[in-house]
Amino acid sequence: MINESFHIPVLTEEVIQHLLIRRNGNYLDATSGFGGHSSAILEQLVDGSLVASDQDPEAISYLKSKFKSEQRISIHQARFSQLDKLFSTNNYDGILADIGVSSYQLNNPKRGFSFMKDGPLDMRMNQNIGEDASSWLSNASEKEISSVLWKYGEEKKAKRIAKAIVEARKNIKIESTKELAEILLEEVPRRFNDKKHPATKTFQAIRIFINNELEELELLLDFISKHLKIGGRACIISFHSLEDRMVKRFFRDHSRRDPRLSKLPNLADDSSFKLVSKAIKPSDEEINLNPRSRSAVLRVVERIK
Ligand SMILES: C[S@@+](CC[C@H](N)C(=O)[O-])C[C@H]1O[C@@H](n2cnc3c(N)ncnc32)[C@H](O)[C@@H]1O
Repeated sequence: MINESFHIPVLTEEVIQHLLIRRNGNYLDATSGFGGHSSAILEQLVDGSLVASDQDPEAISYLKSKFKSEQRISIHQARFSQLDKLFSTNNYDGILADIGVSSYQLNNPKRGFSFMKDGPLDMRMNQNIGEDASSWLSNASEKEISSVLWKYGEEKKAKRIAKAIVEARKNIKIESTKELAEILLEEVPRRFNDKKHPATKTFQAIRIFINNELEELELLLDFISKHLKIGGRACIISFHSLEDRMVKRFFRDHSRRDPRLSKLPNLADDSSFKLVSKAIKPSDEEINLNPRSRSAVLRVVERIK
């Protein structure tokens, strides 16, 4: 039984404040998860509607039971890459995405996301599709592993770690989070003053790769650029710098006039968004209440044409 306290939504007040919700507007929460932000949006709607989607089947069954008597919500299991096909005719007054993993996914050993809890090395946000982390680690070449660790984890010891993984798998199939964490700890022992566990970057990198997270984010941004109404706002919360950099760049590039054209007179500005604020971070109070929120960054844009 999934318990709601497994996931505390982050920056909820700030999201609601910046979405400028219209009582009769149409909204999309593309990462509805355990429905925290979706509930807050519904509280502001009167006769508007909310599409709540997520790729995780466990989240979807939870949402269906949480909102079973709510008429204004429609719930869909969908990845960002499917939104354009599923909702090709919909346009929204506001779109929210709170990307990454939920605390439920992270804390549930059966999902295999965390080196803190032993469980099958899975890491898929939708366990019904794709290759899990254990099979990928069994088959990938040393070079491929090292490049994933470097690209998605910015892990400086990527080559050493990849070599250790390939050595270890000659003797065992790496099937559990604990087995992988032990290989990593042996190769990169934890030093007294290390703030982060040596497995942090490797786990993050494999998770991003297995779930195709950056490619998915790119398609979400593309969807936003096509399906936000004029005057509508998009809020994106990300939890690590790779994602945040992508969001920042995309919003910036679509919010400013092409600098090569800026000196030409009488030329219309073709930017489609306006940046609403700088990066918004959780208050100290929120971080104290929910330490997981400390790395969250919210960015907001408004469609202007
Ligand atoms: C941080 S949680 C969101 C929690 C939610 N805002 C709440 O209040 O409960 C992130 C969610 O995004 C989902 N997610 C991540 N990447 C996705 C993608 N590419 N497509 C759809 N859902 C995705 C995950 O399955 C997870 O449930």
